[in-house]
Amino acid sequence: MKAHKMFLNSIENKELFWAEQAEKIQWFKKPQNILSEGEHNYPIWFADGELNACYIAVDKHVEDGYGDQVAYIYDSPVTETIQKITFKELQENVSKFAGGLQSLGLKKGDTAIIYMPMIPQAAYAMLACARLGITHSVVFGGFAPHELAIRIDDCNPKVLITASAGVEVKKRVPYLPFVKEAYEMSAHKPENIVVFDRQLWGNKVDWENEPQLTNFQELLEKSEYVDCVPVASTHPLYILYTSGTTGKPKGVIRDTGGYATALKFSMKNIYGVNEGEVFWAASDIGWVVGHSFIIYGPLFNRNTSIIYEGKPIMTPDAGTTWRVIEQHKVSVMFTAPTAIRAIKKEDPNGELIKKYDISSLRTQFLAGERCDVATLDWYEEKVGITPIDHWWQTESGWPMLSLMPGVETAEIKRASAGKPVPGYDIKIFDEEGYELEPHHEGYLVIKLPLPPGALLGIWGDYERFHYGYLAKFPGYYFSGDGAIKDEEGYVFISGRVDDIINVAGHRLSTAEMEEAVSGHKDVAECCVVGIDDDLKGQIPFGLAVLKSGVEITEENLEKEVVALVREKIGAVACLRNIVVVKRLPKTRSGKILRKLIRTMLDGKEFQIPSTIDDETIITELEEKFLEYRK
Ligand code: COA
Ligand code: AMP
Repeated sequence: MKAHKMFLNSIENKELFWAEQAEKIQWFKKPQNILSEGEHNYPIWFADGELNACYIAVDKHVEDGYGDQVAYIYDSPVTETIQKITFKELQENVSKFAGGLQSLGLKKGDTAIIYMPMIPQAAYAMLACARLGITHSVVFGGFAPHELAIRIDDCNPKVLITASAGVEVKKRVPYLPFVKEAYEMSAHKPENIVVFDRQLWGNKVDWENEPQLTNFQELLEKSEYVDCVPVASTHPLYILYTSGTTGKPKGVIRDTGGYATALKFSMKNIYGVNEGEVFWAASDIGWVVGHSFIIYGPLFNRNTSIIYEGKPIMTPDAGTTWRVIEQHKVSVMFTAPTAIRAIKKEDPNGELIKKYDISSLRTQFLAGERCDVATLDWYEEKVGITPIDHWWQTESGWPMLSLMPGVETAEIKRASAGKPVPGYDIKIFDEEGYELEPHHEGYLVIKLPLPPGALLGIWGDYERFHYGYLAKFPGYYFSGDGAIKDEEGYVFISGRVDDIINVAGHRLSTAEMEEAVSGHKDVAECCVVGIDDDLKGQIPFGLAVLKSGVEITEENLEKEVVALVREKIGAVACLRNIVVVKRLPKTRSGKILRKLIRTMLDGKEFQIPSTIDDETIITELEEKFLEYRK
């Protein structure tokens, strides 16, 4: 009831509610104007407030006497490193690196791209940008040069900050060749490329022969400490690109003041963590979870956050999660269901769990994709804690559906991602925009205004923002997910209603993959859909129609197309399967029937849509899929 009361208060007295929450962070100039309209009449929060995210995350804690508390634990089983960084040390590294960026001519209002693995220097770079009011855009390390180049051309960074390499299990993944390729491809050329040389296994950057590169560490060491620069509450702290329904990713813009308010609120009320405790989000800084709950949220709340470089399995085994919990006394953890499935597959009886004392763990949160009940049950049985599934998106920046153990203990309903959290007035609509009764599946929408912290728009593309999110149901934000509510207000997410898929907790666009597949010289037409996968939740699967007269075996086509997608999007795209078909199933108006293809590939019962232009294709596809499975 407490959480429900809080929710009602946040909707009925929104300005008062969020003004109170905003009191819990530090402002250089307190906002008087709590909710107003920004450009294109879009609602914005705390418009006249001024603050600095790096100050709230770092300097404030040092000033308050917590300089010796550990801010980040860098735990990297892949390099056998554990490093603890106190708030004082973090302040020194961040402020000096900010000094370095300043010496390169960067200032408030500029943009920077950060393309780095899970190392503390990535956090220094993000926080240093925030310190100076430089808007950062972190690009996930699993993306290929082409993806990096698209982002460079979209946000025109003055600097690109990177590292010499990442590590995937035992493999060194060089980043520099990718960066150089992206630089060649992009029309915009960042003025500086700053590289942290990890010197992994004897591999060093050849600085003498790479005069165009700036040495991260040297820049940091030779620079002066600089102070935090006050920015307006609506100043873009970052741009985070995410997959949309076209081939081009969209740059979600995050503000500063609303975000800081929302994250502080989330840490306390949703995750239920107290200052000083250890919080671990096992994600990557390239995703929104990394931004909100590895880098910013825990620090805003003076928690110790873990920067984990490794997988849940193989580094060195499926017990690594429990080892980290024991070793660092993690109180609250966040991961994706796929990570639990991977652990379960390796250690079905939970033998590795028994090796560790994980009694510090109070709550386990899951998100990023649908959590199947079997995974939840396994976790509950083996670990003794029922995980809390919660739902949100890059766009929201913080949870929209969840239970709130920070406020009260509530019943966990299997397969539900919880109830709307304060600020998110969630409804389930039918196609015409009428609210549906409980137990009816429809579109998950949110009444405007969205609460503080949610996206300000799409970088440089208001039209896309408007048509993608606001136009379908005027006055509401359209999430792109389908869902069902029950009579108690619990929401059950049924999945995306667009062409976005979720592969191992990574959000990917099938449209983007289709662009890559169509790039193959022999492909006339293609379609990529997400099919069910026991481990990764979903995996992409492609159908290709060949140009007439082409002679290529299906096997060779598959090989070449898989390589092409990897080259264009990156290893993370995980497209492994392509079949050649004579034609694609379409409606009479020429739309590809993706849902039909998906259902057939999943081996589920399907209905032939009445709009199909030629029913005989069904037998053709059934035969093809059967042959492929064999
Ligand atoms: N840099 C470079 N390459 C990367 C990368 C990175 N940061 N992240 C992934 N890749 C590569 C992998 O090496 C792999 O390449 P390969 O095909 O050559 O082996 C490919 O991209 C696919 O990676 P991934 O999807 O991670 O699959 P996996 O089989 O290596 O591991 C899991 C499977 C389930 C263990 C892993 O995906 C996982 O831990 N998922 C949790 C995801 C998560 O936390 N999501 C955040 C949302 S909360
Ligand atoms: P991302 O923007 O990468 O965080 O991906 C957001 C998308 O992931 C959502 O729109 C959902 O489709 C999916 N998602 C996230 N969390 C959940 C969840 N708990 N249950 C089901 N789907 C989820």
